[in-house]
Amino acid sequence: MLIRLEEVSSTNSYLKENRNMLPDGAAVTALKQTAGRGRRGREWLSDEGMLPLSVLLKAPQFAAEITLCAAVAVCEVLDSHYGGRYNFGIKWPNDIVLNGRKLCGILCESVYFGDSCEVICGIGINLSQSEEYFRQAELPYGASLEMLTGSAPERNALAETIAERVIKLSKSGFSDIYDSYRRRCITLGRDVKLIINGSEQTARAVDIAPNGYLICSNENGELSVNSGEVSVRGLYGYV
Ligand code: BTN
Repeated sequence: MLIRLEEVSSTNSYLKENRNMLPDGAAVTALKQTAGRGRRGREWLSDEGMLPLSVLLKAPQFAAEITLCAAVAVCEVLDSHYGGRYNFGIKWPNDIVLNGRKLCGILCESVYFGDSCEVICGIGINLSQSEEYFRQAELPYGASLEMLTGSAPERNALAETIAERVIKLSKSGFSDIYDSYRRRCITLGRDVKLIINGSEQTARAVDIAPNGYLICSNENGELSVNSGEVSVRGLYGYV
């Protein structure tokens, strides 16, 4: 079920507000978001070249892994659309990147009640904004599919296919896609800056743990970091 709206504040907020009336797997997209939200409380710019999509996952078995599963789902759908001609990568934990530029961000939000929870998986894909758009927005690392590949998929078809894939991968969990995630993770092998509770340290990203944590190593030894707790930046730019 894909609900198509003209305009909404945020597709994540729409599902949060309407979740009691909607079935598991309901998805919503819109032509325009007026108050798109990004990770860490940031604003997510949402002009009409951006495709917002949110999927409602009720009582998911692998709630904490959905964000990683969604990243692989987006890459797989884009691979299939472009016939494998591009290397869509994942900047840990879940930014989709091509040629060092961010094409898509993912914000998963949970609603808890008692022992159970529902997850709203929000995906924002830059479809067709121009280079000038990102320059003016002072987002030098942002880019759209159209800019980088010369074409963009039809929005509703893309939204439907990604929603189906997110639902499928979130049911099987991260262990099923671990190898695929690891292969696509462009953070591995890079020196990164870890920002943990406001304090910074540099480390080499060496592996992905079976639970999705990023394993890093530096002069203090090995540490395994969780995306909720740390922000990871490349030492020489966004990646
Ligand atoms: C990020 O900061 O990288 C995550 C951005 C997530 C944006 C999407 S757009 C659809 C959904 N609705 C929102 O308000 N945010 C997410």
